[in-house]
Amino acid sequence: MENAVRKLLDAAGREIAGSGDDLEALSELRVRYLGRKGELAQLFKQLGGVADADRPKIGKLLNEAKIELEGLLSAAQDRGKEKVLDRREPFDVTVPGRRPQAGRLHPITQITREISKIFHQLGFETVEGPEVELDYYNFEALNIPKDHPARDMQDTFYISDDVVLRTQTSPLQIRTMEKRRPPIRIIGPGRTYRCDSDVTHSPMFHQVEGLMVGEDISFGDLKGILTIFIHQMFGSDIGLRFRPSFFPFTEPSAEVDMQCVMCKGKGCRVCSQTGWLEILGSGMVDPEVFKMVGYDPEEVTGFAFGMGIERVAMLKYGIDDLRLFYENDLRFLRQF
Ligand code: FA5
Ligand code: MG
Repeated sequence: MENAVRKLLDAAGREIAGSGDDLEALSELRVRYLGRKGELAQLFKQLGGVADADRPKIGKLLNEAKIELEGLLSAAQDRGKEKVLDRREPFDVTVPGRRPQAGRLHPITQITREISKIFHQLGFETVEGPEVELDYYNFEALNIPKDHPARDMQDTFYISDDVVLRTQTSPLQIRTMEKRRPPIRIIGPGRTYRCDSDVTHSPMFHQVEGLMVGEDISFGDLKGILTIFIHQMFGSDIGLRFRPSFFPFTEPSAEVDMQCVMCKGKGCRVCSQTGWLEILGSGMVDPEVFKMVGYDPEEVTGFAFGMGIERVAMLKYGIDDLRLFYENDLRFLRQF
């Protein structure tokens, strides 16, 4: 009996080794040796005839033989499957391609570029400046001294007594005029910060500053340029109004409102039931500001404006909550 087991193992081992890991041959070998009526099963059947004393030993031997054969066959079959995979086409040319996920420009970037393009066509040039700004440029040089009540118009993030996160892009007016002489025609897009948050206010938002300085620049120029801009951006049938306002650095001042596209002027939560949404502040540069940068207010005049880019984007795309721009939800961002 012991001999028969050893012979069977020898024979099976040789045949498995000689199979070249061919899957069909291996499956035949499995049936022949390990099948229900296979050679090993035959030996198990003879176990009944073995002397009582030898039976445990022989039984153990048979079980071990079964495990060994099982192992040899499985290993050979695994190798056989690997070989089949290796021989296959490296890829299936009929499977449809997987599109790479293309990134795209954030809607705020797109709108900023659109705004810039319109002003570039009108002869304006882009300038930039720091977001962490000196109090001097953000306030003092703009005719807002320390302790002036106008500081309350903007909820400022202070870094220190003299340094703030800029609350507006208007410091670009000062930085530009300090470096250049008139005529000046610039726009300055960038990030601005205020402690402020609701459907039309975000603590970080974007403005585009505009400044035009020269001889005989009038309020008519201000109105003309801004009207051209808004008509190019939104079409010439859009409702807009110039509303008297106040800024310490402009006199006279006006804010520009556009008809709310969400409710078509009927009144909704976006426009606080007024039918209008404020998109920019503007005015004629205050003589005090010209004096701060060494310009003679008797010789030059100019206008400036500061536009909220998110507001323009909301109106352009009909978005009723400005905070959507910053939640980074791809389902939202992919629509632009
Ligand atoms: C200013 O910031 C002035 N610097 C604008 C200006 C420039 C006036 C030059 C005169 C000359 P105001 O605080 O109103 O003004 O803000 C301008 C625009 O920024 C607003 O009309 C609005 O569109 C946008 N804005 C203001 N605060 C926020 C905010 N928290 N979130 C989103 N947009 C805002
Ligand atoms: Mg305002």
